[in-house]
Amino acid sequence: MTERTATHQLGGQIGTDPNFTHATHTGHSKANAKHSDAQPELKLTAAEQEIFDGKKGDVLQKAMKTVVAYGQLFGADKLVDLGGAPHLAVSWGSDGIAPLLDIYDKLAAAGLKTYKPFTANPKPMDPENLPVSKEEQAVVDKVYNQMDRLQDLNLKLGMRSKDDWSCACYLPEMGNTPARGDNLAWSESSAINYSNSALGARTNRNSMGIDMLCNILGKAPRFGLLTDEGRKAKWLIDVKTTKQPHPEMIGSAIGLKVMEDVPYIAGMDRFIKGVTEETSGYLKDLGAATASNGAVGLYHMEGVTPEAVDHGRDLLAEGYQTYTIDDAELERIYNSYPNLWKDKQGTPQRVFLGCPHMTYSQMKEWGERIVTAMEKAGKDKVGVPTYMFGSIYVKKAFEEKNADTAKKLKGYGVSIPINCPMMWCSTPIEGAELVATNSNKTRVYTTARFFFDDELTELIVTGQLPKDAR
Ligand code: F3S
Repeated sequence: MTERTATHQLGGQIGTDPNFTHATHTGHSKANAKHSDAQPELKLTAAEQEIFDGKKGDVLQKAMKTVVAYGQLFGADKLVDLGGAPHLAVSWGSDGIAPLLDIYDKLAAAGLKTYKPFTANPKPMDPENLPVSKEEQAVVDKVYNQMDRLQDLNLKLGMRSKDDWSCACYLPEMGNTPARGDNLAWSESSAINYSNSALGARTNRNSMGIDMLCNILGKAPRFGLLTDEGRKAKWLIDVKTTKQPHPEMIGSAIGLKVMEDVPYIAGMDRFIKGVTEETSGYLKDLGAATASNGAVGLYHMEGVTPEAVDHGRDLLAEGYQTYTIDDAELERIYNSYPNLWKDKQGTPQRVFLGCPHMTYSQMKEWGERIVTAMEKAGKDKVGVPTYMFGSIYVKKAFEEKNADTAKKLKGYGVSIPINCPMMWCSTPIEGAELVATNSNKTRVYTTARFFFDDELTELIVTGQLPKDAR
């Protein structure tokens, strides 16, 4: 059996580089890597070697040995110091996570903490803003029976506070915003993508567990997206659309084409002017779609993202391929999405907006959009339960600065939960059926259906999908 076949049978996705045999999903495809390849030498400093040799305790030694072994697998040459602050992706306490929490127990018992206070991904449920029935809650309590344990351990290991659960940790309201050039060891794919691309920080797509160990050590193995070479683009994406493409659609098209390679996107500076509060939502959603429809850890956008502004097309790797995206290509991608609702033509039961969590501008824009549409239609209650997801900090900022809009939304029955919509949909409760979403990430990981903003607005107001919705 060839390696390529074996990878298929294991369910791994193969990238489009004709030479490589394994997609690593680290954002680091390694051409022609084989199991038999010699392990590179990963050089440690004297201080790191002391930890490796157990001179700082056996728990820290195990953490170091694990991180070194992980680095060697991917060809790392050394460890680098981490900057910024950690962000961790584990946010659900189920039985499946218990073995990882056993490791957390040992780290906490040894008195270890992350090198700086960390933020974490949103929890799966928000009983206050997205409640479920009593029967469903019993299921939830059973499925997430380790939630309290996870939160207690996180706080012991350095979590910033019990409020710091959001995947959009890098937004100003949340404040875990890495600086350009900071080395990180993050594991949330959308946060990785944004920090690498829009902020110019450096992190691989680490697995959960490895992120905690790296952040306890304050070190990460240098390979892939932590290197200049690994940040070069194997694809030139030539955007020739007649108008600004929907971020979820162009991100999806790119992710599906390049898989985990780095794309250099040209033709977008016609529409996007730099990385600002106003453009951050667009860049976030585009990136999250590349990271979930494919496994992209970093994109460069010509004239927009910091490294592309500084280095332009010097970022293109030798032998790069080109993918042209025009209106017809986006249409083709959209038409390829399957309808996974149990009742394919059923009436949606919920509208979920914001995965990744909304920026302040997105929440304001959606809030105003809903209020305008409701007032125009003369309605005082939404036609279908509607939720705008965001961190507790963005929610507070929105409610404080837009009191009138927030009050109207509440009156209409629009909620602002702080949990993860994707995980909520993945929880085995009845209420998770027939969800309409504006997120391509939620679409990919659940049975929710993706719709455009105008379609969703009509659905929110009337409770019915527009007749021409696909
Ligand atoms: Fe965030 Fe959950 Fe979506 S972690 S990116 S809201 S899947």
